[in-house]
Amino acid sequence: MSGTPHPAPAGARRIAVIGAGPGGLYFAALAKQLAPDREITVFERDGREDEFGFGVVFSDETLDGIARADPRVFAAISAEFARWSDIDIRYAGEVRTSGGHGFAALDRNRLRAVLQQRCAELAVDVRYRTPAPPVEELAAEYDLVVAADGIHSGTRAAYPQAFRPELDERHCRYIWLATDKVFEAFTFIVERHDFGVLQVHAYPYSATRSTFIVEIAEDAWRRAGFEALAAREFARGESDERSVRRCAELLADHLDGHRLIPNASRWIRFTTVRNARWRHRNVVLLGDAAHSAHFSIGSGTKLALEDALALAAALSEQPTPEEASAAYEAERRPVVESTQRAAQASLEWFETVERRTGQDADRFAFNLLTRSRRVTYGNLRARDPAFVDAVDTAFGGSPGVPPMFRPLKLGALELHNRVVVPPLATFTSPDALPSAFDRAQLTGHALGGAGLVLAGMTAVAPEGRATDRCPGLWSDRQEAAWRELVEAVRAVSDTPLGIQLTHAGRRGATAVPGPDGIGRPLAEGWPLLSASPIPWDADSQVPHEANEVHLAAVTADFAAAAERAARAGFDVLELQFGHGHLVSSFLSPLTNHRTDHYGGPLAGRLRLPLEVLGAVRAAWPAGRPLLVRISASDWAPGGTTEADAAAICRALAEAGADALDVSTGEVVAHQRPPYGRGYQTPFAELVRSATGLPTIAVGAISGPDDADSVLLAGRADLVAVGRAQLYDPLWTLHAAADQGYTGPGARWPEPWRAGSRKPPGPGADRVAPRLHLLREPPAPVHRRWRPTPPEE
Ligand SMILES: Cc1cc2nc3c(=O)[nH]c(=O)nc-3n(C[C@H](O)[C@H](O)[C@H](O)COP(=O)(O)OP(=O)(O)OC[C@H]3O[C@@H](n4cnc5c(N)ncnc54)[C@H](O)[C@@H]3O)c2cc1C
Ligand SMILES: Cc1cc2nc3c(=O)[nH]c(=O)nc-3n(C[C@H](O)[C@H](O)[C@H](O)COP(=O)(O)O)c2cc1C
Repeated sequence: MSGTPHPAPAGARRIAVIGAGPGGLYFAALAKQLAPDREITVFERDGREDEFGFGVVFSDETLDGIARADPRVFAAISAEFARWSDIDIRYAGEVRTSGGHGFAALDRNRLRAVLQQRCAELAVDVRYRTPAPPVEELAAEYDLVVAADGIHSGTRAAYPQAFRPELDERHCRYIWLATDKVFEAFTFIVERHDFGVLQVHAYPYSATRSTFIVEIAEDAWRRAGFEALAAREFARGESDERSVRRCAELLADHLDGHRLIPNASRWIRFTTVRNARWRHRNVVLLGDAAHSAHFSIGSGTKLALEDALALAAALSEQPTPEEASAAYEAERRPVVESTQRAAQASLEWFETVERRTGQDADRFAFNLLTRSRRVTYGNLRARDPAFVDAVDTAFGGSPGVPPMFRPLKLGALELHNRVVVPPLATFTSPDALPSAFDRAQLTGHALGGAGLVLAGMTAVAPEGRATDRCPGLWSDRQEAAWRELVEAVRAVSDTPLGIQLTHAGRRGATAVPGPDGIGRPLAEGWPLLSASPIPWDADSQVPHEANEVHLAAVTADFAAAAERAARAGFDVLELQFGHGHLVSSFLSPLTNHRTDHYGGPLAGRLRLPLEVLGAVRAAWPAGRPLLVRISASDWAPGGTTEADAAAICRALAEAGADALDVSTGEVVAHQRPPYGRGYQTPFAELVRSATGLPTIAVGAISGPDDADSVLLAGRADLVAVGRAQLYDPLWTLHAAADQGYTGPGARWPEPWRAGSRKPPGPGADRVAPRLHLLREPPAPVHRRWRPTPPEE
């Protein structure tokens, strides 16, 4: 931000701010600095001295942003920072420490005091103990109204149609406390009690205090007796003292005789706030009023300060407040949404922590650190190599061998690494025979280094094709063509090959996916079958409800195709029980409305899948791995739940599946998946912990670093990388070269060995400039907060 003051653009002279939290105050100070002729009034219902909250924590990256915006504020707050670089994970009686992170924290009330002081110096009119007038009045009187009125924002509630807020109240209970025990590092405590798992997020914020947030799943909270302790109304500002005492007893081992210090502390549930719009006419939301992000990935304060910075800058850059608000929202929304995605992954991780409590301390620590998918194997290694080496070793690997290059035994089959090419249909078979392109693609992928390559969906019957360009495996001719293809690939590569068998059900008879979309019905299709006569969407054909004769035929078709696949020489078979195909349509309550014994409760919905799996298991050679792909969520209300997915997979495991390929969605057209890096991997972890079977994680795992993180954290045993291997069929070999790995997990085809090292790029021979005679010593990996205790 430019530090040069200038006149406020006409039309943005008079600004009202609702709320003197960190967001409102910082905005007021910055906006006033940029244009001192502005008149800024801040309304705050609490008193100047009222103190709420404890420590505020920042990462190094956040500090960069605020360091330059107002150096005086920065100097004042940084003088008070507690600084450290370690994260301690206390779990199952052991402690693991990861270093190199970089944190700074201070008392939230000191931050407010610094901002209050800055506003006073700049002659911002801050009115304490003054609830803001109704927003309509402010909007009429001022050029701009900045609603920084916190997570329960009254302004947001006043315009529900305009802001379209979504308030997602989460499942865990938490209580925000301080302690006079000064932790030396960011500390996570996860421990099992007879009532369930109790977790703590703690960090120091001064020479005498730490924040101490206790979190617990709702059912464990009840069993622990907290519900009874908290069963009354608390006055504003009052704390639930009895619960605080109970927390202190339960966590005494970690408090070493120190106190828990409440401040208006009681059990609450975290609410993620999202708004479809952050602005309405001349009113704009800022900070917690606009969005919240779970405390486990850093403070809401950071987002509020960054918002303030962006809005103040936009007001000076844009001609009108409306345009400034639009520019502010355009700048901040993607950043906030990305933070909220990471926060969502993190909060879900803590909500489901129970499923990881079987892990050993090393793996658990690594899993915790990579929970938001922002911190990865690669950046943890860069920050603290010894920590990652220790986890690598505990996982049976050796330092220098990235997890993706470790072998895995699947049934009798040895995979030389953990990368899978998932089924990737080519839609090049007008005659339902595998095409020249299938041969080229599978050969390319087999040479590209993955440990297992799967051919795309292949229909078990003519009416089971998804499009009129999909291959099948119901005839001798098709079997011979697949055998020829397998032999052609074998001639150049010994990479194991698999094939995915399917009956597309109501997702059949569609045109090849293209620029016009996916799933458009063919003008001249064929009759479709599904669990119930529910079309995919309004344009789709209504499928026939499959009767028992149909179902017996489908089961027999799967078994026959499995026998053909074995004779064709495939090493692995995958059954498509997901993505809304025929078998999937039986599993999901959204697509199965049957009243016979193939519908109703899960046991009924599982009947066809188990019949098909049983028949295929009998037809497919015992030593060859049999995989099943499922959609573990429908991403639509009323669809498959996590509990269903776990139960489905347990049943599939019992019926003979060797591994589960865990996808999601594509079951109903109105799905709303939260696409993002690795967004399906938590389901692989769920299934792995529910069944004990190897799982394949898939979906937006595009970099080797993501793959290594998923594997080392124990979320899955294999990672399937689809589109990224279409982008670069040598993805696996390139990942080896990029990570400097040359062992047996990366098999360069012999004729290509000369190219197995990354070619030097331009400038590789440039002499690096040297500004110092001697190198600065690197920052220590482990920095702990060990202040000199203040004199009594
Ligand atoms: C009990 C509690 C403790 C917390 N402790 C921490 C912590 O230790 N560390 C941390 O990083 N984060 C903490 N947080 C979260 C953190 O406070 C927020 O993420 C952050 O303060 C957001 O800043 P903000 O300016 O958007 O909103 P807030 O800080 O919530 O500020 C909103 C302000 O608006 C005022 N207000 C609301 N309505 C009106 C009205 N009609 N008229 C006038 N004034 C109004 C409120 O009194 C409040 O001062 C805590 C939250 C709570 C509820
Ligand atoms: C061109 C293409 C074809 C696909 N064909 C199939 C298929 O035949 N069967 C299937 O189960 N999934 C299919 N998928 C889904 C992929 O197997 C994979 O689950 C998905 O692409 C997500 O992984 P990614 O983000 O790594 O690409 C296909 C995806 C693409 C892009």
